[in-house]
Formats: sequence, C-alpha cells, structure tokens
Amino acid sequence: MKLNENIKIIGSNVILVPYEAKHVEKYNKWMQDPKLQELTASEPLSIEEEYRMQTSWRNDDDKLTFLVVSRQLFSETKDEIESLVGDTNLFLRIDEDEENNTKVRVAEAEIMIAEPSFRRQGLGWEAMLLLLKYAQKNLPIDKFEVKIGFENVKSINMFEKMKFIETYRTEVFKEVTLERKVTNDWISWLDEQVQLTVEQYQ
Ligand SMILES: CC(C)(COP(=O)(O)OP(=O)(O)OC[C@H]1O[C@@H](n2cnc3c(N)ncnc32)[C@H](O)[C@@H]1OP(=O)(O)O)[C@@H](O)C(=O)NCCC(=O)NCCS
Repeated sequence: MKLNENIKIIGSNVILVPYEAKHVEKYNKWMQDPKLQELTASEPLSIEEEYRMQTSWRNDDDKLTFLVVSRQLFSETKDEIESLVGDTNLFLRIDEDEENNTKVRVAEAEIMIAEPSFRRQGLGWEAMLLLLKYAQKNLPIDKFEVKIGFENVKSINMFEKMKFIETYRTEVFKEVTLERKVTNDWISWLDEQVQLTVEQYQ
C-alpha cells in the first residue's frame, strides 16, 4: 500500500524501510534459499516476477511491507542495501463472522530475518512488534493472524510470546494458525514493548 511509501520506522536495533525497486535484487537472492522458502512457505520467483511483486506490495491496498535494516550494520557501512537483514509484512482481508453477522478485519503477519548471522539477537522480535504497532495505530484491524509450519518452533515461540493464541491446526498443510485480537490490554502491552518513532524516508 501507499501508506508507508515515504516513511521509515526507527527502533533500537532495527530500522524498517519501505520495499523499493533498489532492494529487489538482494531480496530475490535471499529467496533462492530452499530453507527460507520452506520456512516462509514461499515459491522461488524470477527477478522479473520479484519486481512485479515489489510493485504489487507497493500499490495494492491490502498489502503493507517493510524491509528490516540492522542499525548496527548501517552505522558501520552507511549502506542501506548492505544492511538489509530481512522483511516483515501484513496482508489485509475481511472475514465474515457468520455467528454474529459482522465483518472482521484481519491482518496476516509475516516476518523473516533472512541473514542467519543476524538471528537470535532480538531483531525479529523488534521488527515484528514495530510493524504490529504501526498497523494497529494507522489501520482498522480487529485481529492479527500468523500461519506457521509445525516444525518452525522458533517462530511459534516468538508469536506465543507476543500473546498470540493457537486457533487452528491443519495436518494437510502441517501448519498452525495463531491469532491476536486487538484488545485494549494487548495495545497497552504492545506500547510497553516498543516505541514508534516514524521519520521521513527518501
Ligand atoms: C523466526 C524469526 C523471525 C525469529 O527472529 P530472530 O531475530 O531470530 O528472533 P529474536 O532473537 O528476535 O527472538 C524472539 C523470540 O523468538 C523465539 N526464538 C527465536 N529464535 C529461537 C530459537 N533458536 N529457539 C527457540 N526460540 C527462538 C524466542 O521466543 C525469542 O524470545 P527470547 O529471546 O526471549 O527467547 C527468525 O528465526 C527467522 O526469520 N527465521 C526464518 C524465517 C521464518 O521462519 N519466518 C517465520 C515464518 S512464519
């Protein structure tokens, strides 16, 4: 979506920047890794398809994406592309709640710290929370949702620690769905975890 095209979000250890054409080559290289494809349930794309995907993430109203920059690496290299370590995004949809005859605005979340040497340092945690906070503040969302492979214990642990709750399991896709309703209690918890600092991005 266009909402974040000119902004960056500054955290303690990460900076979230909008996904631009200049980032596509590095992103496409990451996604050639079969392990990352498996963990993120993604298909490998050609570079042309990746450029089309970047354009769609930028223009479609139901998609919000940021790339994750390591603040430490950026302070050393001053090079944004070199300092990219992953991405985080949301896909928005509206579900019908037939029992109550209402509509539920759902945001499905994804996070990837693609560079293995940058994992387990709190970057995934901070990047995901910053995106959740930004979206909670700027978009009408009733609940966040995440779908994770059974085997991906790291990611399941992380979202459980973010107070997501398992709601569904499918043996066919070997996938678990966790969700987090946007309640006042959870917003207060989120506000204790991260502070949202938004600056102009050019
Ligand atoms: C899952 C992922 C995003 C976690 O990001 P990260 O930066 O490595 O993790 P963090 O250091 O921020 O850890 C946050 C929490 O995640 C969980 N976690 C992360 N790594 C873990 C590990 N190796 N073992 C168990 N739990 C782990 C823990 O709950 C951790 O909290 P803690 O440090 O208080 O124990 C990262 O491993 C990743 O990108 N993996 C590949 C892609 C992927 O699986 N994406 C998710 C698809 S649904």
